[in-house]
Amino acid sequence: MLNTFSLYLFGGTGDLSNRKLLPAMFRQETLSSYDENSEIVGVGSKEISNEDYIAMVKESLSMHFYGFDKHAESWKIFSKRLRYLKLDINSQNDWESIAKLPEDHTVILYLATPPFLYQTISNNLKKYDLVSDNCRVVVEKPLGSNLETSNEINDSLARGFKEHQIYRIDHYLGKEAVQNLLALRFGNTIFERSWSNAAIDHIQITVAEDLGVEGRGGYYDDIGALRDMVQNHLLQILCLISMEPPVSINSESVRDEKLKVLKSLQSFSKESIGIDSVRAQYTDGISKGEAACSYKDEDGVDEAKNTETFVALKVAINNWRWAGVPFYIRTGKRMESKSSEIVVRYKNVPHNIFSDQNSLSPNQLVLRIHPDEGIDLKLNTKKPDVTGFDLQELPLDLNLHDYNEIGHQDCYERLLLDVIKGNTALFVRRDEVEASWAWIDNIINLWESESIPMEDYISGSWGPSNSDLLLKRDFRSWKNGNKK
Ligand code: BG6
Repeated sequence: MLNTFSLYLFGGTGDLSNRKLLPAMFRQETLSSYDENSEIVGVGSKEISNEDYIAMVKESLSMHFYGFDKHAESWKIFSKRLRYLKLDINSQNDWESIAKLPEDHTVILYLATPPFLYQTISNNLKKYDLVSDNCRVVVEKPLGSNLETSNEINDSLARGFKEHQIYRIDHYLGKEAVQNLLALRFGNTIFERSWSNAAIDHIQITVAEDLGVEGRGGYYDDIGALRDMVQNHLLQILCLISMEPPVSINSESVRDEKLKVLKSLQSFSKESIGIDSVRAQYTDGISKGEAACSYKDEDGVDEAKNTETFVALKVAINNWRWAGVPFYIRTGKRMESKSSEIVVRYKNVPHNIFSDQNSLSPNQLVLRIHPDEGIDLKLNTKKPDVTGFDLQELPLDLNLHDYNEIGHQDCYERLLLDVIKGNTALFVRRDEVEASWAWIDNIINLWESESIPMEDYISGSWGPSNSDLLLKRDFRSWKNGNKK
């Protein structure tokens, strides 16, 4: 059973609460994880009665929680935990009416609001003296749009909360497959011993989406793929795949090691930016068998902003372990399929003892994040025959879905439970945010100052030709798609 908590969901009637947070909280109710005193308070600016709020949550769970109608008993208990707090965050009266937050148990202030409200909420929590040592605040990305604006947000959070009370969510860290990276690397000796430039040729990280901006054109147009995906999700994966072994999984040490990676990332220069980075935007094409419009024709998009929907980078990590091993990372919208994976390509054997006609494929370890979460290791084996010694490449394929008994767990569920328990390891620390923004800002500045062209790629493709060239130049190629 979890410790007693009060979860205040700012934006309690919004999309994130409805689609992700409330279903995640409800699933733990079905597992009887909460004590009777724990409560969930939806906070919003609308005048809604408790009864209406509970009815709204019920309706939303019936849409977003698979098999909701089979959990009538759990709903009865869950509905008793729910209440609504009307709070116009600019109204002094509303803040004053709160008077006090509970002081005898954990209070979680989850800011599921647009990020431009973070500062006002955090400043008011401080001003009206609502923050005590038992409070934790949870914030979502985007934390600013560059180092300067992210510092403004972090400074205002820091005025009200100590760093250990601030939980910055990167939902990729809540994914089972991403956490499995840690299990694979640090729960087994066989990989870690060869996890370096001694055995690895290069690493690829792909996070491809088949959807476009889906009506979020207005928002996305000011952000772009580099800020939306690379600054957070891809860099976090890169850190987990490349960091040194932490001392422990449940402490600051995971975050310490990730920070060291971020500080070892080689900055792009005027000379390298045009060679080692590609930015591109989708044109019209066919996506999942249907005609798809170009990014420029999406609702809310301003053509003049010339925002990238695809990025590919060749990244170097300047330390002993990874010197000479390129990390190729890419992400894009409207690509051929939704697929996220990490490919670890090992070096060729130093000397091929087999017959001349055997060109040996190098070993390849694939960590599939989506779809078909799993681990696939390609090995060379002997082709069964009695005359020669021909080899064939075969997979050792572990489908993690087959072993996953926890059902419909979503990454938010794991992260919310960690906030309740006070475990910060899967959240992003301020210094990580700063280091990643500093590295990203340099790319954005160089793209502008060096007038790096915006390439085109056809909707439903694997990105622009220059993305392929990024690897081809090094006699390598992307692994495209991970459907089995
Ligand atoms: C979000 C981005 O952080 O991640 C979205 O803002 C993106 O643009 C989403 O679509 C992808 O998440 P997932 O879990 O579906 O891969």
